[in-house]
Amino acid sequence: MKKIIVAIDGFSSCGKSTMAKELAREAGYIYVDTGAMYRAVSLFCLQNGWMTETDMNAAEIEKHIQSIRIEFRPNAEGKADTYLNGKNVESEIRTLEVANGASRVSTLGFVRRELVRQQQLMGIEKGIVMDGRDIGTVVFPQAELKIFLTASPEVRAQRRFDEMAAKGEAVNFDEVLANVKERDDRDQNRAESPLRKADDSVVIDNSNLTRDEQREILHRLFQERTI
Ligand code: DC
Repeated sequence: MKKIIVAIDGFSSCGKSTMAKELAREAGYIYVDTGAMYRAVSLFCLQNGWMTETDMNAAEIEKHIQSIRIEFRPNAEGKADTYLNGKNVESEIRTLEVANGASRVSTLGFVRRELVRQQQLMGIEKGIVMDGRDIGTVVFPQAELKIFLTASPEVRAQRRFDEMAAKGEAVNFDEVLANVKERDDRDQNRAESPLRKADDSVVIDNSNLTRDEQREILHRLFQERTI
């Protein structure tokens, strides 16, 4: 069976990572969560004061972009945790503050160029499932299978809300919904590599799909591309 590159793009909280992780596990492929890489950059900038909730010092971020080392290492459960300059930041990067920062630092061209360079290196031998916003359009325009995953903002906000509530975080649904919409807007309208569907991608709207239905669709597409 030939090894391919699978690019999964789409809006935030669509379930891209769940879908990508499952496929990677079944296929024995590497999974790369590129959102985690933008989140790690965001955390680094917040920690160093180069970004606050209202401001961003692009010149300072540019000066330090080469000193940001992001890796994925398997944890005891076999899942990949994100490391920033040697430190496990997997839970720190999952907060709303870091997510908002990620959506802002990801508008900077020099940040995107550096992360895209690292992502392309990870896919050099194929056998990879990568999820993000620009994987099928910029990182791997030659990917053999491109998925554009989508769901309504309300459905996505509910999923995000449930996830955060399950972790015991005090969250408000309207706030989560407003945040989902704000990030959609920024992701789609930024000048640098905005989120858009690649012409040759397959659109899957999972608002009304069960996990099994979605898995079946993806499995069929993957099989078609690997024979
Ligand atoms: O998928 P996520 O919510 O973890 O992504 C965090 C932010 O990073 C999101 O607002 C958009 C940005 N991002 C991006 O611009 N390009 C990618 N390939 C992945 C994420």
